[in-house]
Amino acid sequence: MSNKQLSFRSPGRVNLIGDHTDYTGGLVLPMAIDRYTTITGTRTKSTVVLSSQSEPELVEFQLPVDRPESVSPKWGRYVAGVAAEMQDAAFGFSGEISCDIPIGAGLSSSAALELASALALGDESNAVERAKLCQRAEHRAVGVPCGIMDQLTCSAGVRDHALLIDCHELSITPIKLPNDVKIVVQFIAQRELVASKYSERVNQCAQAEQIIGPLRLAPESALQEIVDVTVRRRARHVIRENQRVVSFAKALSAGDLKTAGALMIDSHDSLHSDFETSTPQMNSAVAAAVGTPGVFGARMTGGGFGGCIVILADAGSKIDGWQVRAVAGATQLD
Ligand code: GLA
Repeated sequence: MSNKQLSFRSPGRVNLIGDHTDYTGGLVLPMAIDRYTTITGTRTKSTVVLSSQSEPELVEFQLPVDRPESVSPKWGRYVAGVAAEMQDAAFGFSGEISCDIPIGAGLSSSAALELASALALGDESNAVERAKLCQRAEHRAVGVPCGIMDQLTCSAGVRDHALLIDCHELSITPIKLPNDVKIVVQFIAQRELVASKYSERVNQCAQAEQIIGPLRLAPESALQEIVDVTVRRRARHVIRENQRVVSFAKALSAGDLKTAGALMIDSHDSLHSDFETSTPQMNSAVAAAVGTPGVFGARMTGGGFGGCIVILADAGSKIDGWQVRAVAGATQLD
């Protein structure tokens, strides 16, 4: 084994619009952002030893891994899940992880760790296959039944572009971000109890699909067939959110930022009232942002129950928060 130092890094992501649509094969419009998880070290034959600047305990296990869900400490399960899904991981790895994506903020620090791990362990598949591998790893090792958005965005990001993703086809259409706008993220609160509430939403959407078929194809008129009021509201969010993503992509491409911003506000309202994944703090932050000069729109982003809001603003706006830029997906560094 060569002891040449290698570095692999993956960006995090922020979703501009299209939340809780990916796991029913719907549409999303996220971008990979200039915040990264980086793994640096050397390849080994069959041992994985990783320390992390953000975690007190080191992770150590042998390949092949059979039970990634029992690796300790817990953060190592993301890495072990990837190794287990790769089956014949080409190499082990010994090194250090650094991460400037805030953890637990809904900016996909876990997907970024999975993608950087896949590269470090020698995965040579393409961006879409690697994203699918990492999604399976998360299902298996962490038990979160997530959709494909986070892994696919971190894997396939395009500089200066947001990605219109069809989560059924797994097709990606890059949409150039206009020059005169900025995307700003405000951290609201660490997410809590996400896994159980997230799974509940996934199950409710599955229940709706048993009654009216795939939500990505269902017309709004089909909603009346769903008797359970909560399930009907969840399905209504998904059907309308898919339509908003299409309209948002058109507006962004045409530079119609007013319309794009209004769609973000509608999306937030729907996530608050129909999907119930927002929080009072997120609602207040969105209202404050929308009242700030130069802001076109704002919404909660990602899984919800805390995390971040995302804001679309004029480049000159004085809105608070971190400005994020759209970057390329996970890669080996020279
Ligand atoms: C989390 C999941 C994604 C997606 C979002 C909500 O980030 O990992 O797959 O479902 O929530 O849009």
